[in-house]
Amino acid sequence: MPVAVPAPTPQPGDAVGDGSAVATSVRPPAIDVDRLLGRLDALGRIGDTGDGGCCRLALSDADAAGRAHVGGLLRDLGLRVASDGLGNTVAVRPGREDGPPVLIGSHIDTVRTGGRYDGNLGVLAGVEVLTALEESGTTTRRPVGVAFFTNEEGARFAPDMMGSLVFVGGMDLDQARSVQGIDGPTVGQELDRLGLGGDAPVPFPAPRAFLELHIEQGPVLEGLGVQIGAVTGTQAISWQELVFHGVSNHAGTTPMAMRRDAAYAAAELTTFVRRLALELGGHQVGTVGSSDLYPNLVNVVAGRAACRVDLRNTDDDVLAEAEGRLVAFVAELCRAEGVTVAARTLARFDAVSFDPAVVDLVEATAVRCGYSCARLPSGAGHDAQMLARVCPAGMIFVPSSGGISHNPAEHTDPALLGAGADVLLHAVLDLAG
Ligand code: GLV
Ligand code: MN
Ligand code: MN
Repeated sequence: MPVAVPAPTPQPGDAVGDGSAVATSVRPPAIDVDRLLGRLDALGRIGDTGDGGCCRLALSDADAAGRAHVGGLLRDLGLRVASDGLGNTVAVRPGREDGPPVLIGSHIDTVRTGGRYDGNLGVLAGVEVLTALEESGTTTRRPVGVAFFTNEEGARFAPDMMGSLVFVGGMDLDQARSVQGIDGPTVGQELDRLGLGGDAPVPFPAPRAFLELHIEQGPVLEGLGVQIGAVTGTQAISWQELVFHGVSNHAGTTPMAMRRDAAYAAAELTTFVRRLALELGGHQVGTVGSSDLYPNLVNVVAGRAACRVDLRNTDDDVLAEAEGRLVAFVAELCRAEGVTVAARTLARFDAVSFDPAVVDLVEATAVRCGYSCARLPSGAGHDAQMLARVCPAGMIFVPSSGGISHNPAEHTDPALLGAGADVLLHAVLDLAG
C-alpha cells in the first residue's frame, strides 16, 4: 500500500474531481446493496447489545474485534492494511498514477448504547466501493483508499474525533496516548494491550480528497422527504467537565440553610444548560449527558458532583457566548451554595465549512444518480471535519428514521443506505478520475 505518497499536498479550496472520465472498467462499477447490508449486519453482531444496538467503545475488546473484522474485508480485496500509532487504519487500492489517494472513511467505535450505522456505514460503504471497483475490473486514475479512525465518539476518551485529529497532525500522538478513559486505562495502555498501534506515518500524508458517508442522526432529511444530504459543514463543539465540591453531611440533620450540596449544584447546572440553549435559540443545543455524585447515597448530602456539559452551535461566536454565560452562571451558583468548582475542557472545536467544490460534487452526483438532495449542516461531529484541515473534504448524509441516533433504535431504510453508497461510489469515481 502506498502509505508515504510523495506528491503535492492538496489544500482545502483546491480544485477537486476533474470530471475527466478516464477510469477504465470492464463494466461499470455498481453498489451491491445486499452485500453492504450483510456486512452491516455482520459488523453489528460484534458488540451486539441484544436490543438492535451495538457497544464497541473505543479501544475495547469489541472495538478490536470489529477492527480485525473490517481489516479482514480489506485484506480479502488483496490490499495491504496499515495502522498508525493510534490505530487509525488505512488500505489503499492503487490507481494508474501514484499520488495521494482519494480517501473514504469514518469510524467503527460506538457509544455504549450505539446503533449499527453511526460510522459503520461510512466504513463499510467505503469497503463496498472498493469491492465494486475490483469486481468490475475498474482502474481509477488515482488511488482510492478506505480508512477507519480511532475513537471518533469520544465517549470513553476525550476529545471526540481523536484519531482523525492525530491523523491530520492536530494533536500529538503522545498527548493522545496519555488521555485517560472514563474507566481508568489510558489510550496508550489500551492500544498496547490490544496490539493495535502500527508504524504508518503520523501525521498521515494529506489525501487528495476525503469523503464520508454517514447517517444524518437528526430529523431534517426525513422531515423534508429527501433521500440524500449534501453536508455543508459541522458545528462548533464545546465539551467541559465541571466538578463541584461541597460538604458531605447527614441528610436528616443538616438544616437546609447550612448545606453545601454538590448534587444541588449539578441539578441547577443541568437546568441552566437547557434554559441557555432555549434562550440563545437558533442552532444552539446544550446537554448534560453525564454526571456522577459522591458518595451517591440516599441519606448523604453529596460532597462531590462531576458533570459533563456538551454545547454546540453552527455559529462560533454564539457558542463562545454560551460558554461565557455558563462560566458566569457557575460562578454565581458556587457563591450562593458555598461550593467550589474545578473545570476542564474535554473537547473544543470550531465550526467547519466543507470544501464548496466537494459539496457541489455531492449534490450534483446525487441528482445525476436520480436522488432528491438537500444541503444541510451536520449536528454531530465527524472525522471529515478533521480531514478538512488538510484536503478538500465533504460528507454525504442519508436520513435517520425518526431522527434517532446514539440509540439501539437507530435505523435507516435499506434503500437509502444503498442510495448513499451509490452517491459515494460515483462521487469517488469523479474525484479519482
Ligand atoms: C459524535 O458522535 C458526536 O457528535 O458526539
Ligand atoms: Mn459517527
Ligand atoms: Mn456517534
